[in-house]
Amino acid sequence: MHAPSPTGPTVSDDEVAAAVACLSQGGLVAFPTETVYGLGCDAANRDALRRLYAVKGRPAGHPVIVHVAEGTGLDRLAATVPDAARRLARACWPGPLTVVVRRGPGIPDEVTGGRDTVGVRVPDQPVALRLLRAFAATGGLGIAAPSANRFGRVSPTAAADVRADLDGDVDLVLDGGPCAVGVESTIVDCSGDSPAILRLGGVTRERVEGIVGTAVPLRLGDAHAAPGTLPSHYAPAARIELVEPDAVAPRASALLAARRRTGVLAPAGVLDVPALPRGLDVLDPPAGVDEYAHVLYSRLREADRRALDVLLVVPPAAVGLGAAVADRLRRAAGAVTS
Ligand code: TXA
Ligand code: MG
Repeated sequence: MHAPSPTGPTVSDDEVAAAVACLSQGGLVAFPTETVYGLGCDAANRDALRRLYAVKGRPAGHPVIVHVAEGTGLDRLAATVPDAARRLARACWPGPLTVVVRRGPGIPDEVTGGRDTVGVRVPDQPVALRLLRAFAATGGLGIAAPSANRFGRVSPTAAADVRADLDGDVDLVLDGGPCAVGVESTIVDCSGDSPAILRLGGVTRERVEGIVGTAVPLRLGDAHAAPGTLPSHYAPAARIELVEPDAVAPRASALLAARRRTGVLAPAGVLDVPALPRGLDVLDPPAGVDEYAHVLYSRLREADRRALDVLLVVPPAAVGLGAAVADRLRRAAGAVTS
């Protein structure tokens, strides 16, 4: 692949055409979205889906999201489109929102994990939309894509992360530069009597409730509803410990004294940096919750590049996108028990 240009990487029409041909032949194509990179295959091709599961190391029975070029894809994939799903799709697409609806005919069990629902989303990323449109033009149902990381590991937010994680197991990687949002889509289950949020992500709960017009309960880590949202997910090799700002210095001193390579990730301005113990790796602090989301996964990967044993993390305030970041950090720390 070419080196990134000063204005960021560009993806040619030829590359998009090659990616479509690859998908049509049952290949696996990693592509950028605004949330994280996806590992895509033809959602109608059972063999490709089985290979995708094998490459990810993901247990069977975990459903994958079908990505489509526009909202009409929802009508094609759903048995019925409830009012809440329709409103959410209209307000948020293209964007970091997945709606779960009852599935229509013609969707393989490998996509839905054998359940009677399907997750659908239109991503807000120019390369992804070009790919999805070009694939739809060949009659493709949609692109099934989990995040392009091995099962349980940190999601990729740059093409280099995909290559580092999946290496030769992916046929083609489209490099659209770093992902703008940095955490996965919000998943709203609209298949039941009333909607519920299965995963917090790029669209805030407040926004979902504003669009639906009612309170929308969280059903996070609901193993039945969204089996991919397990506790102890999104984890780097370094152990993650969640700490209050005041606890960073004493905890870091104790770990360093025990000869543990230790780092810290905290929002800008919350730590008294000169007072921190020598030898502590202070990762570049994000300013504000949106930037925290944007850099979260690259900082977790950096902890591994620095071969840290322990990363102390001060989560952001759990408002707006901060709620999704705090959720991922709890899972990375293995602190989620439901
Ligand atoms: O932002 C995202 O959503 C990224 C990009 C690539 O679009 N994709 C992503 O996919 O995060 P994945 O497979 O890593 O996570 C998808 C989650 C899983 O927790 C899965 O269980 C849930 O979506 N899911 C998919 N279809 C579902 C369904 N029919 N019912 C319940 N949960 C579903
Ligand atoms: Mg994932």
